[in-house]
Amino acid sequence: MTTVTEQLSPLHRAVALCADDMKRVNTCIADNLQSDIMMIPAIGHYIVASGGKRLRPLLCLLISRLFEYTGERHISMSVVIEFIHTASLLHDDVVDDSDQRRGTPSANGVWGNQASVLVGDYLFSRTFQMMVGDDDMQMLRLMSDVTNALAEGEVLQLSRTFHVEMTEAESLEVIERKTAVLFAAAGEVGAHISGQNEQVINNMAEYGMCLGVAFQLMDDALDYLAEAEEAGKPVGHDLEEGKITLPLIHAMAQDDELRQRVEDISERDGYEGDDQAWVRQRVADLGGCDFTMMRAQDYADRAKALLPQHGDPELLQLLANLADFSARRPY
Ligand code: IPE
Ligand code: IPE
Ligand code: MG
Ligand code: MG
Repeated sequence: MTTVTEQLSPLHRAVALCADDMKRVNTCIADNLQSDIMMIPAIGHYIVASGGKRLRPLLCLLISRLFEYTGERHISMSVVIEFIHTASLLHDDVVDDSDQRRGTPSANGVWGNQASVLVGDYLFSRTFQMMVGDDDMQMLRLMSDVTNALAEGEVLQLSRTFHVEMTEAESLEVIERKTAVLFAAAGEVGAHISGQNEQVINNMAEYGMCLGVAFQLMDDALDYLAEAEEAGKPVGHDLEEGKITLPLIHAMAQDDELRQRVEDISERDGYEGDDQAWVRQRVADLGGCDFTMMRAQDYADRAKALLPQHGDPELLQLLANLADFSARRPY
C-alpha cells in the first residue's frame, strides 16, 4: 500500500519530511532579514515569501539528515545557501531585464533595478556575516569559492551574448559555474557538517553538481517549452537576451535557416511575436528540447550513482527522485 507522502512529487515529499527543519529555516530567514533600513526587509520578505521551491536548502537538510547530523548548523547553512540563491535571482532579473519571477512581478519590476542590486548585495554580505558566526574556515572557503564561481559564471555568460558559435561544452561550463556550484555546495555542506570523510564529501558535492546541471538544462528547455503561467517567469526570454543555450545549439547545428535567423535577431533590437513563435517552434521540431532533457537525464543518472550505498532507504530514494525531478520538472 502506498502512503499519502509517496504519491506526492519528490519536492513535496521533501518539504513534508523536513517540515520541522524548514520551519526553523524560515524563522532564521526572517531573523536575518531584519534591518532598520526598511527597504531591506520589505524587498527581502517580498522575494523570500513569493513561493520559491527551496530546493537547495532542502537538499542540504536531507543530506545532513542522511548522515544523522544532530547539531544546529544545517539550519543557518541552509539559509546561507538560499540567501545566495535569492541574491543571485535579484541580480539576475536586473541583468536579464526580466519583470516576472515566481508568478509575480519581480523585485526590480516593483522597486526598480537599483534597489534589487543593492538588496542583493545586502543578502550576499549577510551570508558572510552568518558564516563568520558559524566560525569554520573550511565553510568560509567553500562558500566564498562558490559565490566567486557564480559571479564568474554570470560574467562568462554575458561575454557570450549572441555567441552563435557557442558549443555544448561551452554552454555546460556556463551552467556549472552560474548554477550547479551552488547545488554542489548544498551537497558538500550537508556532508561536511556531519563529519563525513573526504571521499563522501566529494561524492555529495558531485551529486549536487550533477543535479544542478540537470536542473539548469531543464530550465533552458523550459524556456523554449513552457508557457509563462506555468514557469512563473517570462519564456522565450533566453534568446531575447542573447543566451545561446543547448536547445538552440542543438537545433542550429541541423538548420542553417535557423542559424541565419538567430544572427539576424542578434543584429536587431527586439525579438518577439512571430519571430519568437517561429524560433520556438523550430527548436522544438528539431528536437532541441528533447535532446536537452535527455542530457539533463544523463546528469541526473550520474547524480544518483554518487549517492552512498548505505543509509535510510527513504532518504536515499528521495534524493534519487529529486535528481530525476530536476531533469523532468514541470516548473
Ligand atoms: C531559478 O532557480 C534559477 C535557476 C538556476 C534556473 P529555481 O527554479 O530554483 O528558483 P525558485 O527559487 O524555485 O524560484
Ligand atoms: C540562472 O539562469 C540564473 C542564476 C543562476 C541566478 P536563468 O537566467 O536561466 O534563470 P531564470 O530562468 O531567470 O530563473
Ligand atoms: Mg534569468
Ligand atoms: Mg532560465
